[in-house]
Amino acid sequence: DKGTYPFYMLKEIDEQPNVMRKLSQVYLNDAGEPVINDDLMTALKAADRLYIVAAGTSYHAGLVGAKLFESLAGVPTEVHVSSEFAYNQPLLSAHPFFIFLTQSGETADSREVLLNVNEQHFPSLTITNVPNSTLSREATYTLLLHAGPEIAVASTKAYTAQIALEAILAKALGVATNQPAADDFDVKQQLALVANGMQALVDEKDTFEKISKDALLNTPNAFYIGRGLDYAVSLETALKLKEISYVQAEGFASGELKHGTIALIEKDTPVIGIITQKNTAGLTRSNLQEVAARGAKTITIVTDNLAKDGDTVILPAVDERLTALLSVVPGQLLAYYTSLNKGLDVDKPRNLAKSVTVE
Ligand code: M6R
Repeated sequence: DKGTYPFYMLKEIDEQPNVMRKLSQVYLNDAGEPVINDDLMTALKAADRLYIVAAGTSYHAGLVGAKLFESLAGVPTEVHVSSEFAYNQPLLSAHPFFIFLTQSGETADSREVLLNVNEQHFPSLTITNVPNSTLSREATYTLLLHAGPEIAVASTKAYTAQIALEAILAKALGVATNQPAADDFDVKQQLALVANGMQALVDEKDTFEKISKDALLNTPNAFYIGRGLDYAVSLETALKLKEISYVQAEGFASGELKHGTIALIEKDTPVIGIITQKNTAGLTRSNLQEVAARGAKTITIVTDNLAKDGDTVILPAVDERLTALLSVVPGQLLAYYTSLNKGLDVDKPRNLAKSVTVE
């Protein structure tokens, strides 16, 4: 039931702070230590490389997860689009462990990979929102997202739930393998900060509706740019804009723009820069200046500690590894309001189904 909400998508965006709190309750003890099934932890510890396999928004959550597993648990992690992996399996490490990210647990492309993985007798984990879903039943282990039903075709709370659970799992694996970075990472405190930060963002809906009207409502195209984790979020926020508002949107590695795509910048082309990583903040700002000099309408989404005069959206500061949980929210709301004010069916965009059960 969507209650007083006009669309499920808005309700699901608003539920994200509570989903963060719920994951803390389910997977962290009072001391803030992860509580994860022993057999799963043993299998993860035995792996020399993690392979995250997923589609669409879940793939984008995997891109963020890989950084978390590498930085907190020190384990090399690859992320693959399931439809590609299924028929072009890369050379695997000696002891691979597979993580399937899937909100629905029914995505045919991801299931095809899982069937191949099972034939090769490799261990696997499905992270899903749906208990007893196909990928949950067929993987060795399952962890549930506890995000509550996600009805809107555009995935929002499942993305942030996937990242939060990857952070918890990466912390668990890092602690279990004595990684100092994991010991220093207070995941419970960070998820509490994230929940409060998300709440502050969803309480600012008018701001995002205004930015959408100024920059996105009447544009044929738009770019999200960033580097590293900000690039990963750019891919996700561009997908949101494409699928529900039908704006031709691309997420770009900001350093790559000048290698060709900058030719597309015209007067008033919206370019939204995501800036949450200290080591690349200055570089992304220079890339924004380059497009502004060619007429682009630039918008910035920046964390508090990196903000400058004139920035458009300021995000509360959290651990740099978790900024995706906040920087995605403006992108979700910008897509929502663009779709809404175009008079489109936000929850049921054309040509799309909630779960994609064909390859
Ligand atoms: O259920 P899954 O997470 O496996 O679904 C994967 C994609 O189909 C899904 O994320 C899709 O990209 C969404 N419509 C994005 O909003």
